[in-house]
Amino acid sequence: MENKDPPNGESAHHHQLTKKPRLTRFITESEIREEFAHHQSGIARINNGSFGSCPGSVLAAQRKWQLKFLQQPDDFYFNTLRKGILHSRTLVKDLINADDVDEVSLVDNATTAAAIVLQQIGRSFADGKFHENDAVLMLHCAYEAVKKSMQAYVTRTGGSVIEVQLPFPVNSDEEIIAEFRKGLEKGKASGRKVRLAIIDHITSMPCVVTPVRELVKICREEGVDQVFVDAAHALGSVKVDVKEIGADFYASNLHKWFFCPPSVAFLYCKKTSSSSDVHHPVVSHEYGNGLPIESAWIGTRDYSSQLVVPSALEFVNRFEGGLDGIMNRNHEKIVEVGKMLAESWGTNLGAPPEMCAGMIMVSLPSRLRVMSQDDALRLRSHLRSNYGVEVPIHYQAPRKNGEAAVKDKDGFIMAYARISHQVYNTFEDYCKLRDAIYQLLDDPQISKKLFAE
Ligand SMILES: Cc1ncc(COP(=O)(O)O)c(C=O)c1O
Repeated sequence: MENKDPPNGESAHHHQLTKKPRLTRFITESEIREEFAHHQSGIARINNGSFGSCPGSVLAAQRKWQLKFLQQPDDFYFNTLRKGILHSRTLVKDLINADDVDEVSLVDNATTAAAIVLQQIGRSFADGKFHENDAVLMLHCAYEAVKKSMQAYVTRTGGSVIEVQLPFPVNSDEEIIAEFRKGLEKGKASGRKVRLAIIDHITSMPCVVTPVRELVKICREEGVDQVFVDAAHALGSVKVDVKEIGADFYASNLHKWFFCPPSVAFLYCKKTSSSSDVHHPVVSHEYGNGLPIESAWIGTRDYSSQLVVPSALEFVNRFEGGLDGIMNRNHEKIVEVGKMLAESWGTNLGAPPEMCAGMIMVSLPSRLRVMSQDDALRLRSHLRSNYGVEVPIHYQAPRKNGEAAVKDKDGFIMAYARISHQVYNTFEDYCKLRDAIYQLLDDPQISKKLFAE
């Protein structure tokens, strides 16, 4: 990280800043190991998707910012903080192809971004600008915090919620598009208006990359007022071009796949969007000065995770192909190990490779007999505590007719492992999961006991 104050991110300079530096050589395997030496050894961390990861060089940069604040807080507040955050916002603006840095705010996480978007919808219901029962549409597997925010801000103020079923396992974009169209029809029934559609760019559980551009386009054609893309997993795992996607709001964490420490996310608000009534949920003396400025000061706290975006970018640019190179290799690797696991277990992938990024769903053998959400959680804990494997398990509820959609040789598939690949992972990490499942299958008493608890 730089020792002097970062530049103030004027637009005349920022293209230079995001340009990849000319490197004499790329990061080596042993340097990657060193960068993640703080990871507990012996643990197969194949769940980058949940909490992300942060290399040592970025943590060191963060520490410098923290010390800088503690050394001379008054000077830091008046002369450094705002400039540093502007610099980070400018880098993000270039990474996501936004038109203007004023369209980019840095907030704590995707949960905060969702609250910002849904609170402005709630205010419109409360102020009587929207009619009671006008709708907000989301996927049935939207992130739980988003669903709860919907309860807190939308249904309490008179809005209704339409849930679109995400087909899973899924075979094509068209299957998602067809369900989405059905949901919009429902939303518009009896003259109601769809005030907001929330579209996950990459759903959390089960994870699938959705055809976000097409879905936004359909929303426009069907007269949906606003579109919010919850892209919590996007930056660093799929290409993000907010102009191409065309939503009013688009949010992604930087701590999941962009190597920032916990926690920082960006919220893009399109300038031409109909709403200017967006505010940070924490009101400070910056209230009313625009979301980017409101978000840059929400009271005294540690802002270092927002300030290390340049250092995270520096880290990324040490890899061949920079961020694109990392994304492509993570995708190739996760498809390779996903197929290896499915083949070993005699099961399937939950979605075709082209609908995955750095995470993939692999179905678990039906013989494991995961029969509920609680079973899935117990299996996750068991794999962590007894085998040193960190991996989320998804329970796929049977369809209404009592049948799950897919079978292996022993019965219906009811559970999937969501595996992630990040630069620090090795093939052995996935073998550890494979072998742990073999052991559970070899000893039915363990799974019987585990799921009967
Ligand atoms: C789709 C989606 N939205 C929102 C979130 C929330 O992210 P955070 O916990 O960083 O706020 C997640 C986290 O995994 C997610 O997958």
